[in-house]
Amino acid sequence: MSHKFSIITMGCQMNECDSDYMAQSLAHLGLLPVNDPNDADLILINTCTVRAKAEQKALSQLGRMSIIKRRKPEVILGVVGCMAQQQGTELIKRFPQIDLIMGPRELGRIQDVLKRIISDRQRVIAIDLRACLPSYFPFGGYFEGRVAGFISIMQGCNNFCTYCIVPYVRGREISRSPEDIISEARNLIREGVKEITLLGQNVNSYRAEGQKRPNFAFLLREVSRLEGLLRLRFTTSHPKDLSDELIQCFAHLDKLCPHLHLPFQAGSNSVLKRMKRGYTRDHYIDLIAKLRSMNPEIAITSDVMVGFPGESESEFLQTLDLIEKVRFDAIFSFKYSDRKGTFAYKMGEKIDEAEKASRLSALQSLQRQITLEKNRALEGKQLEVLVEGRSKKGGQLTGRTGTNKVVNFDSDFNHIGSLVKLQIKDGFQNSLQGEIILFNN
Ligand code: 5AD
Ligand code: SF4
Repeated sequence: MSHKFSIITMGCQMNECDSDYMAQSLAHLGLLPVNDPNDADLILINTCTVRAKAEQKALSQLGRMSIIKRRKPEVILGVVGCMAQQQGTELIKRFPQIDLIMGPRELGRIQDVLKRIISDRQRVIAIDLRACLPSYFPFGGYFEGRVAGFISIMQGCNNFCTYCIVPYVRGREISRSPEDIISEARNLIREGVKEITLLGQNVNSYRAEGQKRPNFAFLLREVSRLEGLLRLRFTTSHPKDLSDELIQCFAHLDKLCPHLHLPFQAGSNSVLKRMKRGYTRDHYIDLIAKLRSMNPEIAITSDVMVGFPGESESEFLQTLDLIEKVRFDAIFSFKYSDRKGTFAYKMGEKIDEAEKASRLSALQSLQRQITLEKNRALEGKQLEVLVEGRSKKGGQLTGRTGTNKVVNFDSDFNHIGSLVKLQIKDGFQNSLQGEIILFNN
């Protein structure tokens, strides 16, 4: 039996969560984690395929790992996650070194599959989208030393936005039971985690099985009750499913951080319709107004795309207009990327790369200005920060506000894992500089 493994994780937080799950499963089998894949007997690449760029990165990573395998043929090389699901056997044709292909939905079988590969030395391809959710079994001590943790509360997506590959690689929505999620949360808290983020492609449509079919607001209330938990977050939400009950949670649940990531994708009704998003720009703007009336401090972040097929200059200007109206705290912005198998792939009127690049740069410069103004407006304010570690440049401590802004500050004490009150001295483009006022707990 091989005894050292290395997992390379690409893509979103769901993938990070999946990698944690795999690492715990492998630890149960007695394998030891190593950082450098050169030292590993088992290498797993957890891939993303949401945009062409993510796929290129995954392929070049696979190229690098194949070289290791050529040098050490006894190494087991697995490609898992979204690109593995999408490309399946095609990948083997290009990279015959691969021993395992496994989609995100199949990860619950990772232990059995690995045992089979090791004993029979046979290649396995596991890409059944109907596979069940893995049940949770913690590996004691795995999360020690982490202040923030993630829990995947559901898999898949039913929305089929016309640009998106996710429903094809992560299958239909299926929600985990509240009991299972709570027991995972309890385990994280026991190991020292103070902030939990509940994850799903569209957490607003969380619905567990059972008589009362508990919804997402119910789950938030249950998790926020857990003793020892300081903060609760969730992502991602879909505007068409954001209920009043959920919006009210931002007023009533103390531990729920005042931050909502609510992707709008485009600012014009015609593009939203072609994307099959199921809401209008006015509906989106109304939701933001409701959220801000519930909590004026709430931070709103979003995802947006430029250059969707057929996007005219005036449709794009509607996107800029929405950004100016809402004044987001931060935005993740992307050029539309054609994904084979989606509805948009078959649409005509593709926008050329240079035009997409110029729209993206106009959008990003507008948002940079808004973000900077918002960060500067915090100068002089007192904010509570959960301290997560040392800043990258070293020396300073670093943490995040409830609104998810990074704050760096000096201190002679180790506050990691605690809430501290800081006075904001400077607001920069990507972070804030603070000064300690009071030590809370
Ligand atoms: N092209 C560009 N961006 C995309 N996203 C999803 N699919 C595509 C695509 N085909 C973006 C969306 C989504 C984020 C996770 O990735 O903005 O919210
Ligand atoms: Fe995450 Fe989507 Fe990328 Fe899969 S394709 S890793 S779900 S962002």
